Amino acid sequence: TITAVVMAGGKGERFWPKSRTKLPKQFLNISGNKSMLQQSIQRLEKLIPLEQIFIVTNDLYAELIKAQIPNLPQDNIIVEPIGRNTAPCVGLASIIIEEKFPNSSMIVLPSDHIIKNEEGFLQIVRTAVEVCEKHDSLVTLGINPTYPETGYGYIESNMDIFELNELSVEKVSRFVEKPNEYTAKKYIEAGNFYWNSGIFVWKVSVIRNHIQKLMPDMHDLLETMKHAFISNTRNEVIKSEFPKMPDISIDYGIMEKVNNIYVIPCIFGWDDVGSWTALERIDELDENGNVVRGNILNLDTKGCIIESNGKLIATLGVDDLIIVDTEDVTLICHKNKAQEIKSIIKELKIQK
Ligand code: GDD
Ligand code: MG
Repeated sequence: TITAVVMAGGKGERFWPKSRTKLPKQFLNISGNKSMLQQSIQRLEKLIPLEQIFIVTNDLYAELIKAQIPNLPQDNIIVEPIGRNTAPCVGLASIIIEEKFPNSSMIVLPSDHIIKNEEGFLQIVRTAVEVCEKHDSLVTLGINPTYPETGYGYIESNMDIFELNELSVEKVSRFVEKPNEYTAKKYIEAGNFYWNSGIFVWKVSVIRNHIQKLMPDMHDLLETMKHAFISNTRNEVIKSEFPKMPDISIDYGIMEKVNNIYVIPCIFGWDDVGSWTALERIDELDENGNVVRGNILNLDTKGCIIESNGKLIATLGVDDLIIVDTEDVTLICHKNKAQEIKSIIKELKIQK
């Protein structure tokens, strides 16, 4: 059996003020007329039935998910009382899936990515499942890097390559999460590195073993929870035990420390819509290189990203700005500060 775990508990802070604590970017229609979460689920449904798809999210978003994915069995929404990053999210999902679908493989993926070539994506995921089952390995989907992004994980291929279903599958010599810029540049120059897409495939039993070895405290907690599920409701157990989980991502907690990893390089039009500048890759630009969404008059304006919420936004003689108007907030930010929008949120005591 193949199962999927969609991680949908992130806050999407770099997409503020459109992405808000109450409504983060995975629930917004940033490309197309469906939310990124809805698009992610629709893609997966071409591979497996909804019953085998689980969404892990924060308490705040459970109702939102029910509304956006009404046919998803309620039990498949796994609710965290508090965000503990992606390692506990995967750990919790793995003990729940283990009960319902013993011996399954699991695809772990983010809820807020854009994938343009759906057929290509499905073909690669099917192949990744084959690889993980045959080699008891962790499999990641890699993206050809184009610039030294420091917000991604990097995967080094040891160039030991085999072919499967006309795709190349490469043995990983190491996984480095979010290197500094100097290191990222070296990796790009070296040529045998991929970006980590954040999409992983493995057998549930294999990830459980790695957690046991590499994160023993978390493993013990998961075992405690599993046993408590027998006599208590799932939500009660999660509410009392989950806050004890360490706050760490799967990339730092597991991927950086494991040897048996394969990467499948992907060309399927991947974008993680990490910040406002992603819109330059998603939208068609106007003749001056601007992203223009909504009611906008821009004269002598170059390289700007402008989104109106109905009200006219008029610009004259400005370059390289992000201007986003929402009902209660207007953001004006230089494009080269797009990654630092989080610092505004830090200053805000309310209205995030
Ligand atoms: N349920 C749950 N709980 N989901 C979470 C949590 C959490 O505490 N924290 C994050 N998520 C979800 C986010 O909504 C997103 O869909 C996904 O998990 C990844 O989290 P991010 O916070 O966006 O990770 P990142 O962008 O810093 O880094 C990851 O993704 C990059 C590619 O986009 C890493 O895997 C990198 O290695 C990778 O390159
Ligand atoms: Mg991300």
